[in-house]
Order: sequence, then C-alpha cells, then structure tokens
Amino acid sequence: STPRPLIAGNWKMNGVEASLDEARAVAAAVDSHPPSARVAICPPSTLIHRLADALAGSGVEVGGQDCRAEASGAFTGDVAAEMLADAGAGLVILGHSERRAGYGETDAVVAAKVEAALRAGLEPIVCVGETLAEREAGDTLAVVTGQVRGSLPAALAGKAFSVAYEPVWAIGTGLTPTLEQIEEVHVAVRAALTEIFGEDGARVPILYGGSVKPSNAAEILKARDVGGALVGGASLKAADFLGIIQAA
Ligand code: G3H
Repeated sequence: STPRPLIAGNWKMNGVEASLDEARAVAAAVDSHPPSARVAICPPSTLIHRLADALAGSGVEVGGQDCRAEASGAFTGDVAAEMLADAGAGLVILGHSERRAGYGETDAVVAAKVEAALRAGLEPIVCVGETLAEREAGDTLAVVTGQVRGSLPAALAGKAFSVAYEPVWAIGTGLTPTLEQIEEVHVAVRAALTEIFGEDGARVPILYGGSVKPSNAAEILKARDVGGALVGGASLKAADFLGIIQAA
C-alpha cells in the first residue's frame, strides 16, 4: 500500500521556547481535523525534547535536522542519532543542501548518517537537489539521481524513509520550478528508487521542498510522484503550515 503523504516542517536554526506555541496550535488543528497527510515538525536540537513532550499523543510527529554518524564520542557540538531518538524524535532530515554546501557533506557522509538513523530507529528524510549552475548546465537529472544512488545505503531496503527533492535555487528564495520541472525530477528519482529497491522503491514518498507555501501547495502536492513536502520558512507560523497541511 502507498504510505500517506508526509508534510514535514524544517524550522532550521529558528525557534525558542515561545515557538512551542506555534507547534501546539498546529497539533490542536491536526487533532480536531485529521488531515490526509502525516505531519512532522523538525525543530532545532535544543527544542526536540520540549516539542516531543508538548506534542505527545498528538497527530504531529517530531524530527531532527541532522545527526552525526557515530553513536557517541569526542565530537564537540555534534548530536548522535541515538540522542535524537532519546529526546523523542522519530524522524531525521539528512543531507539537506545547507549541510551539503555549508559542511562539505558528501553522498558518502550522508549515507553513513542514514545508517546511523536506522541504527537508532529513526526514519530518515534524505535530501537531494541541484544548484542553479547545475540546472543551467543541463545536469539536473544526473546530479539528483547521482545523489539518490550515493546517499541511500542498501540498509534502507524494507525500511520506512522518504526522499526530499529540493532544488537549491528554490530554497528560501520564493522561486519554484514549474510543475513540469518538478515532475521531471520526481519521475527520475522514482526510477532510480525502483532500480535500487525494486517494488519497494515505488512506494517511497518523494517530497518536494523549496518555497512551498499555502498558495502553491495544492498544485505541487497533486503533481506526479510528489508524496509530500519539506517546508522551511512557511512551517514557522502555524497558520501558514496549516494552510499547506490542509492542501495535501
Ligand atoms: O527544508 C526545507 C527547505 O530547505 C525549504 O525551505 O521552504 O524556506 O524554501 P523554504
């Protein structure tokens, strides 16, 4: 059976104690009118425990934004997948372009983090996406399917996970690809997934991310092979995030 679409909010490095009220408002609305999609919020690590407590028993899940591959050790400032799980997270975003570009995360690093997430019982959301230069050079499909092949370890077979396609040039810019461009990439990601995982690959949700907002969510979520959304800026305010959730 096809899993429900997943609408995941990535708060990035935004959020303090008071932000929990936004998450509580999302949970209250989701619980009074259960949407067709699964809903998750990925706050900064400092808020995971608080958010998991605040949302316990609600229809909103909690995730991390990154983890280190090792389970523990002398890695000042880093957080292990096991620690995210211990704090109450059930999912984790891995390989976000801000990690790939800002911290030099290669496909191999991302794949090791995916294995760590599975070891800790977390459901990975693995991000891929081309830069504007790569798109303009006509390399989009090669770059994205290369990231899919390189970032998804064989250990994912039979496990719950999703892939998020986020064109780097669409993140936080207000620019979105055309529906045709989104579908072209999602169909190519689907083909790579079925090549790697066989029939199971046909059921992996492929989320779209990059300037998703209430006004464009419905058409994007209806596009071919789009199985949800990874939402940055528009996930910070309950009203905007709910507008996207209700469009699913
Ligand atoms: O993980 C989320 C994405 O990077 C999208 O961010 O919705 O602010 O463009 P955005």
